[in-house]
Amino acid sequence: MRNTSGSIATTGETETMAAVVQERYGTEPEAVLRTARLARPRVGPGQVLVRVCASSVDRGTWHMMAGLPYAVRPVSGMRRPKLPNPGRNVAGVVEAVGPGVTGFAPGDEVYGTAPAAFAAYAVARPDRIAPKPAGLTFEQAATVPVSALTALQAVRDKGRVREGRQVLITGAAGGVGTFTVQLAHAFGAQVTAVASTPKLDFVRALGADRVIDYTREDFLAGPRRYDTVIDIAGNRSLRDLRRALTPRGTLVITGGETDGPWLGGTDRQLRAQLLSPFTPQHLGTFISSEHADGLRDLTSLIDAGTLSPAVDHVYPLTETAAAVRHLLDGRVMGKLALTLTGD
Ligand SMILES: NC(=O)c1ccc[n+]([C@@H]2O[C@H](COP(=O)([O-])OP(=O)(O)OC[C@H]3O[C@@H](n4cnc5c(N)ncnc54)[C@H](OP(=O)(O)O)[C@@H]3O)[C@@H](O)[C@H]2O)c1
Repeated sequence: MRNTSGSIATTGETETMAAVVQERYGTEPEAVLRTARLARPRVGPGQVLVRVCASSVDRGTWHMMAGLPYAVRPVSGMRRPKLPNPGRNVAGVVEAVGPGVTGFAPGDEVYGTAPAAFAAYAVARPDRIAPKPAGLTFEQAATVPVSALTALQAVRDKGRVREGRQVLITGAAGGVGTFTVQLAHAFGAQVTAVASTPKLDFVRALGADRVIDYTREDFLAGPRRYDTVIDIAGNRSLRDLRRALTPRGTLVITGGETDGPWLGGTDRQLRAQLLSPFTPQHLGTFISSEHADGLRDLTSLIDAGTLSPAVDHVYPLTETAAAVRHLLDGRVMGKLALTLTGD
């Protein structure tokens, strides 16, 4: 029997768990994601075994599921997924710690990232998990790690957002966007959020000072220019994004899905980095890093009431494919969680 780390369980290993299984790449979630019973993973040296109470889906789930853009395949597996489970976000309870692990003990409530997280148990690195914010449910906490770490790095570290800055955020109503709007607002910026018509009140409630309905208005219309543009929607040209900036403004390209199956959205990101040294504007991009320090920063902001996950819907693990389908249909406001209660 295979376990979620891809290895074969040894004879006599009888404890099983519910898990999502993905044996091949495909763009249709119903065709490639199924739930099965697999052998429980075991904890090794320097590892923490987490009983997963909740997880969540995001665009990264789809990229891992589809194996697209092809640029991800050296990491995810060239012909088929190296890991037969695309889950990454986790909130749960420490079940066991391996030799050499300090700072965690069985019974601790934690959140963070772990490979193969769409399962009742996942093996995490201690430097990728942190104590769960006490005021959040497991389902809320599981929506935070990847999306909010990305938002934090975009706003604080790359965007240099601070008091009084004019900040434009595209894709403001999505998983990364909802955290980005809240963080930019909390750091004292004047936030302009771009979203589609049904999501305008939602982003306003997150702390946006102004909203732009991109179906009716172009953010380039009018004289307003921005000290920082955080581009999460990823569908505008580098030239347009630069035109939205002040002469010495900062562009943070966070997302992009538009450049076809080979590069995804990375073409604009490469060009921005190449151009940046030759212009007074700061044009940058980044791949978010997953680490406990960032999670602890997020916990402080959540505990202080500054940041709060917006959970649109919670699905049972058995309906992971439906959750990914919901994400793809474009109607989600905020995040989609998966619950393992009862597994
Ligand atoms: N750099 C990194 O390390 C990193 C980390 C995580 C995610 N990402 C990337 O960030 C992007 C967003 O991820 P996510 O999880 O936030 O996705 P998401 O939850 O699906 O949100 C995407 C948002 O974009 C908006 N959008 C779609 N088409 C648009 C358009 N034409 N104009 C303006 N807005 C549009 C959508 O809402 P409405 O159109 O309805 O307003 C939606 O709210 C993805 O490309 C993802 O791969 C990058």
